[in-house]
Amino acid sequence: MNRFDDRRAIISGTGSGIGKATAQLFAREGAAVACLDVKGADETAAGIVAAGGTAYAFTCDVGDASVVAQTVQAAVAALGGVDIVCNIAGIGHFAWSHQEDPEWFDRIVRVNLNGTFYMCRYTLPYMLDAGKGVIINTASNAGLMGLPWSAAYCSSKGGVVQLTRALAFEYRGKGVRVNAVAPGGTNTNIIHSFSPLPDGADHREMAKMISPMRQAEPIEMAEAFAYIASDNARYMTGTVLTLDGGLAC
Ligand SMILES: NC(=O)c1ccc[n+]([C@@H]2O[C@H](COP(=O)([O-])OP(=O)(O)OC[C@H]3O[C@@H](n4cnc5c(N)ncnc54)[C@H](O)[C@@H]3O)[C@@H](O)[C@H]2O)c1
Repeated sequence: MNRFDDRRAIISGTGSGIGKATAQLFAREGAAVACLDVKGADETAAGIVAAGGTAYAFTCDVGDASVVAQTVQAAVAALGGVDIVCNIAGIGHFAWSHQEDPEWFDRIVRVNLNGTFYMCRYTLPYMLDAGKGVIINTASNAGLMGLPWSAAYCSSKGGVVQLTRALAFEYRGKGVRVNAVAPGGTNTNIIHSFSPLPDGADHREMAKMISPMRQAEPIEMAEAFAYIASDNARYMTGTVLTLDGGLAC
């Protein structure tokens, strides 16, 4: 018996990094997985199927509410329902706030915060009908502490923290658990979009954003998603689980 036998999971951001590792782990543990991303979801789903698992791929921009509505409907039809939703898609970059392009600020908030809300908005009705479900959002240590050159990213991830708590409270009597994972620095592609540092930035400030332990690997985050999605975490809702190598202690 696997931990996620007979469970159906919709996971965004599966084209690379933490989302890909989470989709692969959930599938290895028996879940049927709908893999969503703007790119790369098809390769991830094909790899899962080649390894003997069940997966479906959907090209989906989580920052577009109507696309999310259509994709969720199609994913639920393919899976035959939904038990678990992991909102992992995300973007970010560094910029001095007094020079930030307002369009970039909007884009980062739209993908990270609005996108997480849209995914919750369109999957919750299925979970409420079923009287059960688990949603796991992706915050960040940047949603719990202020970081330089990251106003859009910090704002979006702080928003994800509060979105998670608000939904957890709203649906805690209805069988739906809502939690978040807050990763610290993890070895994925998003790291590249946070370099180089903006002109004039003090490189010593970077040290304060990195755990002295080491960078995490995506599987270490995937294992946290799996724990929260599992029945072992049945009493956990409204929790933001920080995995940042002690950065914010
Ligand atoms: N890697 C880190 O250090 C770190 C730290 C804290 C939080 N996070 C968060 O973890 C999550 C996963 O990021 P990652 O580290 O695996 O990086 P990643 O870049 O490897 O993965 C992010 C994925 O999201 C997808 N994506 C981007 N915009 C999208 C959109 N509009 N719609 C659908 N998919 C979209 C990308 O194509 C990519 O596959 C993100 O929410 C990120 O903010 C990462």
